[in-house]
Amino acid sequence: MKYHALDTPALLVDRDRLEANLHNMAELTRCHGKMLRPHAKTHKTPEIAQMQLAAGAVGLTVAKLGEAEVFAEAGCTDIFIANQIVGEQKLERLVRLARQCTLRVGVDSLEVAVPLSEAARRAGVRVGVRLEVDTGLHRAGVRTKEEAIALAHALAKLPNLELDGIFTYEGHLYQANSDQERAIAIARMSETLADLRESLVRQGFAISVTSVGSTPGARFTAPVPGLDELRCGVYVFNDRMQVARGAPKESCALTVLTTVISVRPDGRVIVDAGTKALASDKPFADQTMGEVLEDTSLRFVAASEEHGHLQAEGGTRLRVGDKVRIVPNHACTCVNLHERMYVVKGEEVEDVWEIRARGKFL
Ligand SMILES: Cc1ncc(COP(=O)(O)O)c(C=O)c1O
Repeated sequence: MKYHALDTPALLVDRDRLEANLHNMAELTRCHGKMLRPHAKTHKTPEIAQMQLAAGAVGLTVAKLGEAEVFAEAGCTDIFIANQIVGEQKLERLVRLARQCTLRVGVDSLEVAVPLSEAARRAGVRVGVRLEVDTGLHRAGVRTKEEAIALAHALAKLPNLELDGIFTYEGHLYQANSDQERAIAIARMSETLADLRESLVRQGFAISVTSVGSTPGARFTAPVPGLDELRCGVYVFNDRMQVARGAPKESCALTVLTTVISVRPDGRVIVDAGTKALASDKPFADQTMGEVLEDTSLRFVAASEEHGHLQAEGGTRLRVGDKVRIVPNHACTCVNLHERMYVVKGEEVEDVWEIRARGKFL
């Protein structure tokens, strides 16, 4: 079947581009001797996780317990939830999962760690923990070296937890405007993490892993000695946000196929993909919602829930019923809206993958 024959809106993934992206990141990390633990919140799809593991990934990263459950069920044996897990219902599920696979989870306070330790002790399981450090994003994570060391000492006294590493997410890198700014931010982050790790090791803690994240950071973090593990996520598909940060346009593997449902006399073309098919991210100054792959002179100027507005400069040849593909601004939020993705090689649909962890935000 040709993808043009699909009903729309439909999420398409270009197999060749996906495979090239997987290969390139696997090579980047391998040639610098780094472990790759890709963030699966981007694709939420077991088939892609299997491809990442087959290409040498040491395990998966997820943000949510529900995602971890899906990937464990699909056979993934080593999962890091790079997030704080809080609340009785979740802790019950977490310790159950810890019997099924090697599980690590983030901690940045005793308020998070104590109930986790109690749940693990009650269930008779050991849970790996990694201490989250805020290196500039100002989201979760301990903010000072003193706070980190005090927390490590307190964790050592808690039963059934095993501290094996420190981690950060350098999401503030998304605000950097040039490679020079990115390099400076990474150098600062690396120094902070190296200094903390050295202090922890000196005080007797077995910190075997320093783990960092982010796709735009990968080419800067991969060569840094002392950073052991990269948790890039969005690299599998790339998107307009990554292109704005140096990824080649031809590496964008994900598109939303959409149908023209109305053509207005003023050259405005209305398609059947709005924010419920593409997500609402508008990170660009011009407020565009995506890019039309077939014709970049069409600007995706606005969207409501079920409608996308394309503006044609100087008229358009598009007619009602025509189909075009849209490159989303942000692949992760876009994928989460769809039940399945169609795997395309050239024009041919080769596979249909269920996005099994979509909507798993609990
Ligand atoms: C904790 C954590 N690690 C890794 C990543 C992956 O980063 P990216 O989306 O830039 O690939 C994210 C993304 O949000 C994250 O929150």
